[in-house]
Amino acid sequence: MKPRPVIAIDGPAGAGKSTVARMVCQRTGLAMLDTGAMYRGIAWAAHRDKLDVADAGLMTRLANEVDLQFQGIPARLVVDGVDVGDEIRTLEIGQDASRLSEHSGVRQALVAQQQRIIEAGGFVLEGRDVTTVVAPKAELKIFLTASVEERGRRRWEESKARGVTDTLPMVIKDVISRDYRDYTRADSPLMLAEDAVIIESFGLTPEAVVDRIMELLLKRTSV
Ligand code: DC
Repeated sequence: MKPRPVIAIDGPAGAGKSTVARMVCQRTGLAMLDTGAMYRGIAWAAHRDKLDVADAGLMTRLANEVDLQFQGIPARLVVDGVDVGDEIRTLEIGQDASRLSEHSGVRQALVAQQQRIIEAGGFVLEGRDVTTVVAPKAELKIFLTASVEERGRRRWEESKARGVTDTLPMVIKDVISRDYRDYTRADSPLMLAEDAVIIESFGLTPEAVVDRIMELLLKRTSV
């Protein structure tokens, strides 16, 4: 394998990107960058400061001012010195992250930070625009997807494990509305990069998805 490849994984909410990215990191020793956590971190800061996520100017300023750091393995997001842990994993923060991610100023601020982080290579990154905007030259680009029902069910299982009481219909409704916004926003919507490999994860274990990614990575980086 090339010493410091970049693997970029895009896909809709609940497709299993985080689980798979984390496992690829464990197998390869590459570092992980969860770009969605950064949008969620800005949404968390907006709640903290009681700011309206629909306000493009305010959100752009926030995205430029807030200090976002990842610490530890697995990485935890630290926002202005506060370890936000699972507080950024609620449906409300997810929706607000999706809303503020529509503002071009926010995207520019976060994409610039993400590109600085991965500059020297050696990362697995996941998000909605990492194959198209953040790392268009990544050695391997994956578009990971599954049906809305399957993705909703997975997100629901995860939230149950964290003790959250959202119902399955609530979580599916959340996935549908985030899909709509993430696919249709004007600036860098979620889309399939020309040279991305589509992996439909229905019926596949995370291990099987990771095996497929490792096979592809070896092919791409051994030439
Ligand atoms: O991957 P996630 O569920 O943590 O992402 C939360 C929201 O952040 C998602 O609905 C849209 C936005 N996002 C984005 O616009 N671009 C990214 N690269 C990652 C996330």
